[in-house]
Amino acid sequence: MSEHQTGSEDQRKSIVVTQKLTKIYGKGATRVAALKGVNLRVRRGEFVAVLGPSGSGKTTLLNMLGALDRPTSGRVFIDRVETSKVPERRLYKIRREKLGFIFQTYYLVPTLNALQNVLMPVLPIRANKRYKKRAVRLLEIVGLKDRMHHKPGELSGGEQQRVTIARALILNPSVILADEPTGNLDVKTGAEIIELMRWLNKERGKTFIIVTHDRRIAETAERVFYLMDGRLSDVPAEEY
Ligand SMILES: Nc1ncnc2c1ncn2[C@@H]1O[C@H](COP(=O)(O)OP(=O)(O)O)[C@@H](O)[C@H]1O
Ligand SMILES: [Mg+2]
Repeated sequence: MSEHQTGSEDQRKSIVVTQKLTKIYGKGATRVAALKGVNLRVRRGEFVAVLGPSGSGKTTLLNMLGALDRPTSGRVFIDRVETSKVPERRLYKIRREKLGFIFQTYYLVPTLNALQNVLMPVLPIRANKRYKKRAVRLLEIVGLKDRMHHKPGELSGGEQQRVTIARALILNPSVILADEPTGNLDVKTGAEIIELMRWLNKERGKTFIIVTHDRRIAETAERVFYLMDGRLSDVPAEEY
């Protein structure tokens, strides 16, 4: 067991844990406390929604879970590794191996086709035949069998989001983190994307943590947390 792993029973069952997580941006007059002591515990195979209005700290929380940014204080564990302690040079590997990301604005490479985009996380290793086969299979699973050679500009928003879901799965991560995955989609397309993520959770056992203000995601989630002004609760505030 490495220096960053913990052995407690609780940690073994939980795939994502935060303890007293805080994030403060800026100083003095521009100081913003975006997270104020967030304790979150997600078990393997769960489909969890974190619901909160704009500015409540959703993206900040997701960036902490994804080791994309450092907390000001508190701890983050992903699959038993305390990422909040891991040096930056080693985080890259953890992000790639343990986490898949889905964002509101897709972040696809415009000059690459769908297949090449799905293979993007692989390229630094080797885009060998095995991965290419896997990418093709994933694109089939997300319903893009006939769009593999299309570039993002030739795909609808919903199709682009399907590409990012396939890309998130290519290295078979433990956890998928999604930030407003339906935020740029119309109601019907958004519902299809939610259904796809739920299917991947139920049938493929993928753990999902989705931050959103889309109540339909909360309706399908196994557990819902509410983020208000940097504080997490499992009961809705009055606004809900
Ligand atoms: N890089 C940053 N620098 C300063 N303040 C930030 C930064 N990112 C977010 N914030 C502030 O932190 C709070 C939470 O933001 P964010 O996590 O983006 O919320 P949400 O995703 O729920 O809309 C907001 O008040 C926002 O203005
Ligand atoms: Mg956000």
